[in-house]
Amino acid sequence: MPLQQSPAWQALTKHAEQMSARHISDLFKSDTQRFTQLSFSQDDILLDLSKQRMTEETLSLLTSLASERNLQQWTEDLFSGAPVNASENRPALHTALRAPGSSSLLLNGQDIIPEIQSNLERMQAIVERIHSGQWRGFTGHSINTVVNIGVGGSDLGPLMACKALAENQPEEAAHIQIHFVSSMDGSQLAELLNKLNPARTLFVISSKSFTTVDTLANANTAKEWLKKSSMADNETMLTARHFIGVSAASEKMTEWGISASHQLGFWEWTGGRYSMWSTIGFPIALKLGMPGFRQLLAGAHAMDQHFRTAPFGENLPVLLALCGIWNINFLKINAHAILPYDGRLSHFPAYLEQLEMESNGKSVTRDGTLTDYSTCPILWGEVGSNAQHAFYQLLHQGTESVMCDFIVAARRYHQSGNNELLHQHQLNLANCLAQSRILALGDSVLKDAESAPVYKRYRGNQPCTTLLLDELTPASLGQLIALYEHKVFVQSVIWGINPFDQWGVELGKKVATSLLSALSADPAASDFDSSTRGLLEKISSQSEPEA
Ligand code: F6P
Repeated sequence: MPLQQSPAWQALTKHAEQMSARHISDLFKSDTQRFTQLSFSQDDILLDLSKQRMTEETLSLLTSLASERNLQQWTEDLFSGAPVNASENRPALHTALRAPGSSSLLLNGQDIIPEIQSNLERMQAIVERIHSGQWRGFTGHSINTVVNIGVGGSDLGPLMACKALAENQPEEAAHIQIHFVSSMDGSQLAELLNKLNPARTLFVISSKSFTTVDTLANANTAKEWLKKSSMADNETMLTARHFIGVSAASEKMTEWGISASHQLGFWEWTGGRYSMWSTIGFPIALKLGMPGFRQLLAGAHAMDQHFRTAPFGENLPVLLALCGIWNINFLKINAHAILPYDGRLSHFPAYLEQLEMESNGKSVTRDGTLTDYSTCPILWGEVGSNAQHAFYQLLHQGTESVMCDFIVAARRYHQSGNNELLHQHQLNLANCLAQSRILALGDSVLKDAESAPVYKRYRGNQPCTTLLLDELTPASLGQLIALYEHKVFVQSVIWGINPFDQWGVELGKKVATSLLSALSADPAASDFDSSTRGLLEKISSQSEPEA
């Protein structure tokens, strides 16, 4: 049955007619127990949906929609390794990557858990070798700098987690500097190479496919730099001591020159943006040590178990997803701001941009028809307290409806003994609570708002979710990321789309290849559109050597 004709969808459409006219501040006035009814906890995370423009009835209609869309069966298919990524005929088994070593999961008749565990052990051996100073560069000095070269899923997850959990770095890892390089234009790498000591630098080439031109271009630049700056002409030795490869394509790593013992593998059934739990997480393991990395995995696994077993009405990923469906498809809100009130989560919005928009930025359903409803909204974000001084003006007084996720840790600096920092944490919490309060309730939070001139008024009614972590730890970050991963999956099930492919990124790669050759040819002779030809002509005139 087409989604929009399903009984639950119809009931929600009717319900939305009435709810669209309601103001969140009125919902609070008419029900003093809203927080108790619309907030949900699991392990280290509290999910507060009470500042959403919804009621318990809304949630109950939404959970019926989830049942109608067979969410339970889809969830089982996801966890059990069914080929849920149909366009690539693959399972999506990121949940297996964080399953305990004692569990088992048969894929094509073979238990994949022992292989996952032995990969982790290989990774652990390399991490420990680097931490203990036994990994040595071409001069015999130990490695003290690691540069992860990757992009998209081979960059954003490790980068985000390394920043988020830097305070959890154990002593044995403290002497290792970790850098991330992703940009195709070489600007990050060029800046770094000016500062690094080649003898003590190890590059990690992270690429699921090992064909991504951005990554290979950076990797080649790094290799050439190493050759030149070391003045060693034994390329095999240099590559062996200064490069590790992380990929699902072992033969391509070998072709590039990385020997089998310096390769960390993973599997085609790990989607790029779901891969930080695999050996792509190597920089995280290096930063936190293997025990810390395993805590991250355990946190994600705890959320997996909750998602797989909890009833929809108590299930955090399901509720977060359904709340999004309500806002997008029934209240017609297509902008979503991610607002962590925590500088450590500064890369979390970028991580979610890929996770959500590359997964659900689709308009063709699993059965090949065009959707006649909206799917993934436009998502962006920033550390909340900084965004207050940048784009909050639009959230408060602009013309667009925006749903907002506030993410904050209740406890921080409690063991530091530093009163100034403790005060800063209180300040931060106060701002987080104040902003979601005004965005949702508007200036009804003031006594005399109505007497203010119209340009000083705040209309509110922007739906806000708060995710309150007890504190930010490897385990709670694991829970938080898995929560969003499953939210994305639930929404894909409702919309009937495949969240695990990304065909929309392919054409750009092909067209760029043809443009690369055009850059060194005569632009006038090309059959590109006039804009592209004109730009090529201008570029070519700029690159002519000066007389
Ligand atoms: O082009 C998009 C994409 O394929 C992402 O899905 C992926 O995370 C990224 O490129 C990097 O891919 P790879 O890990 O294969 O280099």
